[in-house]
Amino acid sequence: MFKTLPAPVADPILKVMTMFREDTRDAKVDLGLGVYKDPQGNTPVMRAVKAAEARLVEQQATKSYTTLSGDPAFRAAMAGLVLGDAVPASRIAGSASTGGTAGVRLGLDLIHAANPNAAIWISLPTWPNHFALTKAAGLKYRTYRYYDPETGAVDREGMWEDLSAAEPGDVILLHGCCHNPTGADLNAEDWANVAAFCKEKGVMPFIDTAYQGFGDGLDADAAGLRALAAQMERMIVVSSASKNFGLYRERTGCCLVICPEEERALVQGTLERINRESISFPPDHGARVVTEILTDPALRADWEAELTEMRDRMNGLRRDLARALRDACGSDRFGFLADQRGMFSLLGGSEEQITRLREEHGVYIVGGGRLNMAGLTPETIPMVAKAVAAVL
Ligand SMILES: Cc1ncc(COP(=O)(O)O)c(C=O)c1O
Repeated sequence: MFKTLPAPVADPILKVMTMFREDTRDAKVDLGLGVYKDPQGNTPVMRAVKAAEARLVEQQATKSYTTLSGDPAFRAAMAGLVLGDAVPASRIAGSASTGGTAGVRLGLDLIHAANPNAAIWISLPTWPNHFALTKAAGLKYRTYRYYDPETGAVDREGMWEDLSAAEPGDVILLHGCCHNPTGADLNAEDWANVAAFCKEKGVMPFIDTAYQGFGDGLDADAAGLRALAAQMERMIVVSSASKNFGLYRERTGCCLVICPEEERALVQGTLERINRESISFPPDHGARVVTEILTDPALRADWEAELTEMRDRMNGLRRDLARALRDACGSDRFGFLADQRGMFSLLGGSEEQITRLREEHGVYIVGGGRLNMAGLTPETIPMVAKAVAAVL
């Protein structure tokens, strides 16, 4: 029976990862995979995570099942981290999820259960899994222009022109901060425009936030989505703890659903029903580590300090790369890199140019020219700048 299976398409990012590993040259740099790296090229376990895990080993009394939507203390801690006090707890339903990915899928499954005809409006470009997850949830999608490669900023005109075709009941999927793959974020005025648009059109916002704390700070990175949440009757926010807690493999995330108080029990019950039919209970280890960190002042302070170090490092690398490219190219055409935020930016370039970067210069970036800033070091920036100036 399995002979009829369609051949799976290899993930292009994982393909680049394998090629990098098999490259025997010393002078090579991996800017492909989307994980944070320290100056030594490692993706460390954060100090507060180690301490919280040690505490759990010592103190955890049971590993019996939690609830169908995970540990309520985790949901509350994540709601505080992401939403601040923008929305009262009585209006928030939610569930722990298997990373941000499954949180997005859970939100989409919820939408499908409520309105299978809703179209999900997805930015062009976006994290490619948004398309796959939408299709897997049985929903249709439409796209809106988001990024202007000439300016390195949001293509506001294109975005609003495309979104004007949205129908009542549709959903607009937005990145909370540190847009993947462009690094171009909405500003406060844009978020206010999103709120006005959603209210006027009867469209629901769905915010995927996977990099809170990687842009300008924990509160600054959530300011836009909080301002929106405070105004919306209904909204979905999915938060991943993979990057900002470095918990990638523990699969830790959360899907929060803002709704009128009288709908909360129905939404909560539906999220739990969806979980029951797929995973039963969400994973708990990473969630408990996050709860421990967010609710213990000393652990939280140490986590925030380390997150600040990571953010400062990435923003410093952005500025240094932009400067090195200005010198190497003799122009400011990559100046936008310094203004963008998060781990990713798009250098642009054709498939052929990206192949040349890899084969002739040992610089590994992924299709579309996405580069992971955290893969750079002060030592590799000159080599990358020289290669980019020669090829792009
Ligand atoms: C925009 C966006 N959403 C969600 C995720 C999901 O992350 P995870 O499932 O590893 O928590 C990612 C990861 O790369 C992402 O970039």
